[in-house]
Amino acid sequence: MNDNMKEDVLRVLLSEDEIRAKVQEMGKKLTEDYKGKNLLLVTVLKGAVVFLADLMRQIDVPAEIDFMVVSSYGSGVKSSGVVKIIKDLDIPLAGKDILIVEDILDSGMTLSYIKELLQSRGPRSIRIATLLDKPARRKVDLQADYVGFEVPDEFVVGYGLDFDEKYRNLPYIGILKPEVYSD
Ligand code: IMP
Ligand code: MG
Repeated sequence: MNDNMKEDVLRVLLSEDEIRAKVQEMGKKLTEDYKGKNLLLVTVLKGAVVFLADLMRQIDVPAEIDFMVVSSYGSGVKSSGVVKIIKDLDIPLAGKDILIVEDILDSGMTLSYIKELLQSRGPRSIRIATLLDKPARRKVDLQADYVGFEVPDEFVVGYGLDFDEKYRNLPYIGILKPEVYSD
């Protein structure tokens, strides 16, 4: 890893301007769709925090936020998408209109497990907003209700997304140089 993080980036996939415009557009749509509702934004840490922080400020209806921390069980069980809850939500879900805010929808396994878990707690509605969607990688039948960008099946970092916990603080979304992975 270079001292200058941006030197590790091979190519910018989505610029700050493109992301900003998209987040604004999504916020407008959500403002329309959640008028008169009981919006609760639910984010699974950590990747989606940057998206959440920007998106929530583009939503002009009352909204609450809450966070979950989960970890996948050992490799054998991982393929089932079963996750262990490390930190659960604080806010009760009865009567809430939940919007799960995700950074990227990949296989969809983790999110589909979490969606069912939250569904069982009796919210009024539950939808998914994801900044990025990699449909080519999907392993379960799960679709986001709001998608920022469809991306190709390449590993991306930045704007919250990490490689080995790094690069989350890149202001744009990019693809790393191959040598970064082999270092
Ligand atoms: P899945 O949909 O359960 O397979 O997992 C989605 C999670 O995998 C995301 O929340 C990210 O943390 C991580 N992930 C998937 N694809 C990428 C990527 O291209 N870059 C960084 N993280 C990724
Ligand atoms: Mg990650």
